[in-house]
Amino acid sequence: MPGTSRARAVFCYEAVFGPTTRGGSGNMRNTGTYFSGKSAIITGGSSGIGKAIARLLASNGASVFIVARDQEKLSGALREIEGARITTEQRFGAFRGDVTSFDELTAVVRAIVEADGPPDILINSAGVVCPGYFEELPLSTFREQMDVNYFGTLHAIRAVLPYMMEQGQGHIVNLSSVAGAIGVFGYTGYAASKFAVRGFSEALRIELKPHNIRVSVVIPEDTDTPQLRGEREMQPLETRMTEGMVRPERLDGPRDALAYWFMRLFAGGGEDMTAEQVAEAVLKGMRRRRFLIAPDPLFGFAYPWRGLLIPVANWAFDRLVRLARRQRGTQ
Ligand SMILES: NC(=O)c1ccc[n+]([C@@H]2O[C@H](COP(=O)([O-])OP(=O)(O)OC[C@H]3O[C@@H](n4cnc5c(N)ncnc54)[C@H](OP(=O)(O)O)[C@@H]3O)[C@@H](O)[C@H]2O)c1
Repeated sequence: MPGTSRARAVFCYEAVFGPTTRGGSGNMRNTGTYFSGKSAIITGGSSGIGKAIARLLASNGASVFIVARDQEKLSGALREIEGARITTEQRFGAFRGDVTSFDELTAVVRAIVEADGPPDILINSAGVVCPGYFEELPLSTFREQMDVNYFGTLHAIRAVLPYMMEQGQGHIVNLSSVAGAIGVFGYTGYAASKFAVRGFSEALRIELKPHNIRVSVVIPEDTDTPQLRGEREMQPLETRMTEGMVRPERLDGPRDALAYWFMRLFAGGGEDMTAEQVAEAVLKGMRRRRFLIAPDPLFGFAYPWRGLLIPVANWAFDRLVRLARRQRGTQ
């Protein structure tokens, strides 16, 4: 049954460390007054995780301004986000902007500040992914992922930072990924961009702390969003097997079985998180002033030990890639 091993692992974690977000219902809920009266700009707020964070912030009393490229998606998302408001004082807006253009973002942020004053929160959720075999992926996809995921994050921060510095406070949240903490087959371009976001966030946290501006980085696992649904179509068999979504047709003994079950457990056991669960984890992490926000408690637990775990993961990856290649008839 999909997710059984994961459920057991989460149960064990909770037994030791207390309740986790993943165990929650994922329903949008008000979590207190922390975000009430605050103002947030969310890039990529028209879809998936960004939209779920926007709705949750709205249902916690924050004013929310979303930025993305597609006007139709922006308008639909804005209606949903406004529908979650709890007071008439909250303000909302949707702005067309491409995060790869610093000039465009600067103009969008200026318009938001003129309308609503300086933001307290910036969430960088705009992102793209293009999985595939390294030697087959067009070079342009590597640049695009770096441009949107890394430079898009950097541009938004540079556009917002002068206002946060002037206010003497702020909180910046950057979406990295589990693929920004451990290399995954088929994700050479994406992993590079998300490792960049994580490294950038670590350095930025130290620099901005004296200015009373907090930085957090989020490392979600697979989350059911339009992005994930699209990328699943493009994933090589090796990716799906190393993520435990496809069981090898033939296992050559207990080591292969161990490799498969180990990766299945750590990759979520075929069970995706919902965008709402990730949003709840993000708001909880922000309230607790966490730098690293891991919505999946198992990965959050493993993260500090990744230096020890990566050699084991690599051993399992290599075995499963061999099995997948044999299944594809390439070995
Ligand atoms: N879903 C997952 O499994 C998962 C796991 C780990 C990390 N993440 C990360 O979480 C973030 C959100 O992902 P998601 O799954 O919610 O994706 P999604 O549903 O595809 O949403 C992506 C958002 O980014 C916007 N966007 C894309 N390119 C943009 C650009 N150049 N300028 C401005 N906005 C842009 C999109 O709107 P437009 O296309 O209209 O511009 C959309 O609003 C991403 O950074 C992603 O890499 C996702």
